[in-house]
Amino acid sequence: MPRFPEERIEKSKFSDLHTNELSCVTLSMIRFGVCSLKQLYANRLKDAFGRQKSISIELYEELAHSDTVCAEEYQEMVLSRFKFGQVYKRTHRNRFAAFDNAVLSVARKQFGDTVKATLRIHDVAASDGRTSVDLYDELSKLYHDRLWFLATDILPWVYTVAKPGQHLKLVTDDSGHIIELIYPPFVFDLGRRESPFYWINHIIVKRLLKQASALAALFVQRSCEVRVTKIELIHNKCRELIERKSNFRFERYNVFEPINHRFDMVRAMNILNRCYFSQVELRRILQAVFSSLRIGGLFATGSNEAEGSEVEGGIYLRTANGFELLFRSCSGSTVDDLITGFN
Ligand SMILES: C[S@@+](CC[C@H](N)C(=O)[O-])C[C@H]1O[C@@H](n2cnc3c(N)ncnc32)[C@H](O)[C@@H]1O
Repeated sequence: MPRFPEERIEKSKFSDLHTNELSCVTLSMIRFGVCSLKQLYANRLKDAFGRQKSISIELYEELAHSDTVCAEEYQEMVLSRFKFGQVYKRTHRNRFAAFDNAVLSVARKQFGDTVKATLRIHDVAASDGRTSVDLYDELSKLYHDRLWFLATDILPWVYTVAKPGQHLKLVTDDSGHIIELIYPPFVFDLGRRESPFYWINHIIVKRLLKQASALAALFVQRSCEVRVTKIELIHNKCRELIERKSNFRFERYNVFEPINHRFDMVRAMNILNRCYFSQVELRRILQAVFSSLRIGGLFATGSNEAEGSEVEGGIYLRTANGFELLFRSCSGSTVDDLITGFN
């Protein structure tokens, strides 16, 4: 006997369609989420219509403490559906092996194999930092302790907020902005637009939002009426580096803001995308990158899909007035015109 109504729909889709038609149609207009590791491991990630379910971000933290062999891959799955603003936190280990090699070889040419002063690297929009670990490991082989590495992201942690005894949990950032509602068996990602087809979901969210706003307000007031749990969206290898290595740091940073450091190299992967930001916003990001790089520093940027897929990107030299292309990968950065036209 299936435990979840959606399974009932899936099972009955072809056999019982006539007998149960009405209840199936109604139930199929509901989209549940993935709320437990059991559901995640069982791969119940799509609804009866093959549409992706939202996955509770709480599972990221549970996986960080689990000894499941594929915990890292499951964490990638959780992040791949988690959206903040316009941007997903999607990331993959070994995502840019070939592009990282190019970065290393351009860096060797530009800075030399041995450096007197410490090389300062900034990896922006790093999600949970798993790709930062890849780059740090490679650069460390060459520059050892003459390296200082900063990985940053706008959302390196979130909080769950709930009232004891209540079913609803909200997921928020530092400011109390509501990102996700967890209301088992539902998960509502407020950054994802829900199809009107799932009208029952729309009704439930509407009802929950009032309660969620009250919880968010209590969170902002630091009220003891709510139970708050911090979820670090930072990969375990990254956490290890933060603890063990004094030359590796992970901080919260918004790419639109100026930063109080000067770098030899900035890397920005899968963030300078036209589907995320307007031209004006992309120029503002480039301004922040430009200001944070020293003259003669490098800017590596590109976009790709899954692990090992080709990166459309470039490596640029920061000159006195702008950026000059040194290396092109595949067809180049999709915002190459903005980078080379920057002044
Ligand atoms: C698609 S992920 C890319 C992660 C990683 N760089 C990679 O390529 O695998 C985009 C990341 O950008 C972050 N992000 C979105 N807006 C940002 C902003 N304004 N400042 C800094 N990071 C931002 C998101 O939180 C997310 O982790």
